[in-house]
Amino acid sequence: MTAVDVVIMAAGKGTRMKSRLPKVLHRLAGRALVQHVIDTAAGLKARHVVVITGHGAPEVEAALTRSAAAAGATPPVFVRQEPQLGTGHAVQQAVPALPDDGIALILNGDVPLIEAATLRGLITDCAGKRLALLTVDMPDPSGYGRIIRSGDAVLAIVEHKDADAQQRQIREIYTGVMALPAALLKRWLARLTNDNSQGEYYLTDIVKFAVADGADVVATKTPDKVQVDGVNSPVQLAELERAYQLRHARTLMDHGVRLADPARLDVRGTLSCGQDVEIDVNCVFEGSVSLGDGVRIGANCVIANATILAGAVIHPFTHIDGEKAGVRVGEGALVGPFARLRPGAQLGAEVHIGNFVEVKNSTLAAGAKANHLAYLGDATVGERVNYGAGSITANYDGANKHRTVIEADVHVGSNCVLVAPVTIGAGGTVGGGSTITKDTPAGALSVARGKQISVANWERPKKAPK
Ligand code: UD1
Ligand code: CA
Repeated sequence: MTAVDVVIMAAGKGTRMKSRLPKVLHRLAGRALVQHVIDTAAGLKARHVVVITGHGAPEVEAALTRSAAAAGATPPVFVRQEPQLGTGHAVQQAVPALPDDGIALILNGDVPLIEAATLRGLITDCAGKRLALLTVDMPDPSGYGRIIRSGDAVLAIVEHKDADAQQRQIREIYTGVMALPAALLKRWLARLTNDNSQGEYYLTDIVKFAVADGADVVATKTPDKVQVDGVNSPVQLAELERAYQLRHARTLMDHGVRLADPARLDVRGTLSCGQDVEIDVNCVFEGSVSLGDGVRIGANCVIANATILAGAVIHPFTHIDGEKAGVRVGEGALVGPFARLRPGAQLGAEVHIGNFVEVKNSTLAAGAKANHLAYLGDATVGERVNYGAGSITANYDGANKHRTVIEADVHVGSNCVLVAPVTIGAGGTVGGGSTITKDTPAGALSVARGKQISVANWERPKKAPK
């Protein structure tokens, strides 16, 4: 097997995005466009991945270096193209980074949805000796390079601006993806000139050199336009995002996931689902999320970096974000509506978290309940604890965070403040409205609030006569 070295062109300006952000860093499904291409290249077990940067090079390189580090992957090799004199000139900059013995696979940083299987097909077509081009039929081919054939044989690619009226009728266009032996690529790149309508060095001119040298050129048409669609504008970005999401939704449904509406689901990361999972409309999943058997997700939930175990129900409008620490929702737990689970929230089996309850860096053992308007931060909550409406853990003293321990079977009344560090002993009760600053004994009723008094025959103030 010949080694594959991937070259990703990402130096162009992306004027039509009208953005300060370099085009290839715009996100599709939560990942930079060029990151999709890099990840696909990784799936091919490419020997080298060379990214050609130009516009916004420092920003692009920094972003890709960071994401490689975060994934524990080898960062790509960066090659700068300054100024940008065309796609041929771009690939010329990569020559020193390409060993002669490999297959060069040329990809575009702004064509995010190309699939590994398609690229493997192209590498097979190349077979270490041919120039293999990926083409597609476009209903409206204007702007693209046309594939000029004689019978089956490919003779050249002619850019739209250089094409005559007859050539412009051709609907088969070059997608921007090719595979060829690096040694041949280098030989042909050395012959490029810029005597064309745009005064650019066209990579596509190498096709006519290949033909002139008697090398084999094969062009394979993909039936799948989405894989070769580029992003040049916010409209195209949104269209491709929808196409991606719809594909993702169909794949989930093929695995048995029941989506209320496949057009109203967004997965920006990986979502793995067990059997009989139901997801209502307008849910967004980010990072790594796993849903166990029979999990139900209500409408309008945003869920990131979380593991939700079998039978749990997440009611509508719930926000879960595990960030790095993760969130875990136990079997049969009920969360929401309008709940918020933050990093380090670990809910045991059958836990109930109700509306307007926030949980951060806290463990709730099986059967614990916090059903209304509450905050649990840096807390360890025992089994079957009932945590009243409006109660909070005061976990932050302005400088440091402290833990609250609520032992099993405690009943915390409404509107309590548990000032950490503090422990509420097992089976104890905290009277509503208490501010608890000292540990409480097991089994005791603890009350810490102003004593109630009643003033008899109290006369309310009256309005003064005018
Ligand atoms: C190119 C092809 C055209 C093909 C089309 C598919 C050439 C000459 N033409 O068109 O046949 O149908 O892609 O989309 O290759 N880039 C650089 N440096 C440069 C110029 C471009 O890195 O100097 C990068 C861009 O960032 C982009 C890619 O190369 O990722 C393609 O450039 P773009 O201008 O979009 O394509 P065209 O040259 O118009
Ligand atoms: Ca161009």
